[in-house]
Amino acid sequence: MLVCCNLAHQYENGTVKVKSTPYQYPQSQPSTQNNSDVLIIGSGAAGLTLALSLADQCKINLICKEHLTESATFYAQGGISAVLDKNDSIEAHVEDTLNAGAGLCNERIVRKVVSNGPQSIRWLSDQGVCFTQINGNQNTGKQYHLTREGGHRHRRIVHAADATGREMEISLAKHAINHPNITIHEKHIAIDLITGRKLGRKSKRCLGAYILDKTTDKVGVFGAKMVVLATGGAGKVYLYTSNPDIASGDGIAMAWRAGCRIANMEFIQFHPTCLFHPQAKSFLITEAIRGEGGRLRTPNDNKTFMSTYDTRAELAPRDVVARAIDHVMKKSGAEFVHLDISHKSKDFILQHFPNIYARCLDFGYDMATQAIPVVPAAHYTCGGIMSDAYGRTDIEGLYALGETAHTGMHGANRMASNSLLECIVFAAEAARNIAKTQPNITLPERLPEWDESRVTDSDEEVVVTHNWHELRQFMWDYVGIVRTDKRLQRAKRRVELLLTEINDYYNHFRVSSDLIELRNLAVVSDLIIRSAMLRKESRGLHYTADYPELDHTQPPKNTILTPDNYT
Ligand code: FAD
Ligand code: SIN
Repeated sequence: MLVCCNLAHQYENGTVKVKSTPYQYPQSQPSTQNNSDVLIIGSGAAGLTLALSLADQCKINLICKEHLTESATFYAQGGISAVLDKNDSIEAHVEDTLNAGAGLCNERIVRKVVSNGPQSIRWLSDQGVCFTQINGNQNTGKQYHLTREGGHRHRRIVHAADATGREMEISLAKHAINHPNITIHEKHIAIDLITGRKLGRKSKRCLGAYILDKTTDKVGVFGAKMVVLATGGAGKVYLYTSNPDIASGDGIAMAWRAGCRIANMEFIQFHPTCLFHPQAKSFLITEAIRGEGGRLRTPNDNKTFMSTYDTRAELAPRDVVARAIDHVMKKSGAEFVHLDISHKSKDFILQHFPNIYARCLDFGYDMATQAIPVVPAAHYTCGGIMSDAYGRTDIEGLYALGETAHTGMHGANRMASNSLLECIVFAAEAARNIAKTQPNITLPERLPEWDESRVTDSDEEVVVTHNWHELRQFMWDYVGIVRTDKRLQRAKRRVELLLTEINDYYNHFRVSSDLIELRNLAVVSDLIIRSAMLRKESRGLHYTADYPELDHTQPPKNTILTPDNYT
């Protein structure tokens, strides 16, 4: 019997929404200069873990562009990987991760993250995160139920039913809210980093960021000894994505503009199974369903097809499954394929997947009696801001953590449930490093205010919405699951045009949240296209019909883009 203690974190009518301001906490001050020891931009698993790990030692400003818990973390379903089964081993987890990463993982980093798995689960549990247990007798020690996902040879996914991220995010957020040293700024969107170089100073270190308060439309100056980007991924670059709206790659674009190198942006992971329904925006159907026996079937003749593509069938890594589905859909002209777990009992489905079951029922699908229509969608950004084993970037005083970072953990393809683990482990490492170094740094003196003198309100908001749709459409059509040189060239021409138009617009009109995100989406799209054009082979998540094989003529290498103003 599986037991999930469920704390107070219930869905409302099966939807994954929390009330917009669920808690009371210290509000930000109206002053435009707002200094702290550490400025953390992002309140998902990475940002919250870092904030909680540092808060006893320093004053923290924690910034999030929507409400506190709105993040990819909140929507994570499957779980978090850790070696806890007696038949499993750190070595096996490392090997599986390296295999999925197709030659581009940094083994030292993988080993470090994987070795810290059990300890990270203990830390989360100490924060009150309530993972699903077997037998559920909390007095006899914890025995977690472990599920399986693609690429993992063992059961090693710790989870909270099918809403692991929500359980983690809310538990961590509660602690952050109650900590006197953490000041939370909801509905604040970071626009750009402030560096010594930008101010023409000798020291190039990061000094803070310009941040727009979305409720007052005022841009504030947030100075800090250390600045941390924990801004998540960039799924919104694509028309179809499992990601929430916050995932517009802001951290990657800000770091690039500030002078950081960005790596491996061609490796965008497409999750094989999102619910296909016009109203089911971004709703993911967890891979754990396939882990527990769910089969993929053709919609026309109800045949299983995965074993013709890979011996691991439904549990092959995601790139393989997503490409197989894409191929079946293109060949048959179908708009979706079916995912079928109706051979399991209703009790089993309700115990393992209560939230997905309820959500599908809302859309008219009873998983216990019928297959559900699914399609692949952009899911995870494997590349990002180049950072080292402590999360430090190319710019002194600037850290990058979680999905926005490129640490070498995921290589050319992230294995399922390894990303939440990476967030926790790297946040803990960065916290140790920041705690040690920040007492020796002095807070920056008063930083220049945001210059609003030359900008007026836009008279043509349609430019933003039009470009937003155009960008996401051509990224889906030309830079999606299967690429070609010709498609990438088409995308490149379009993105260059959009970048010019958007920058021109940005320089003339007052900033708005939509414009900030559009500008960042365009920068990130450009980085993805440029990286994809540089890789003349198919590896991991990057598949091009023009070079369908691995390039064996040279050792595997990362795609590293260096900005003109590289520090
Ligand atoms: P996020 O959790 O995305 O948080 C980003 C934060 O940055 C948010 O607070 C946002 O408001 C803030 N932010 C962004 N830009 C700005 C800005 N300009 N100014 C201010 N704030 C900003 N991984 C797993 O390991 N296991 C799973 O089961 C799993 N399931 C998933 C299911 C779904 C539907 C999705 C979308 C992802 C899933 N993933 C899973 C991936 C995983 O959830 C993410 O990689 C991880 O949560 C990223 O955490 P993060 O802290 O880096 O970023
Ligand atoms: C899922 O539950 O299928 C998502 C897991 C992940 O992205 O790691």
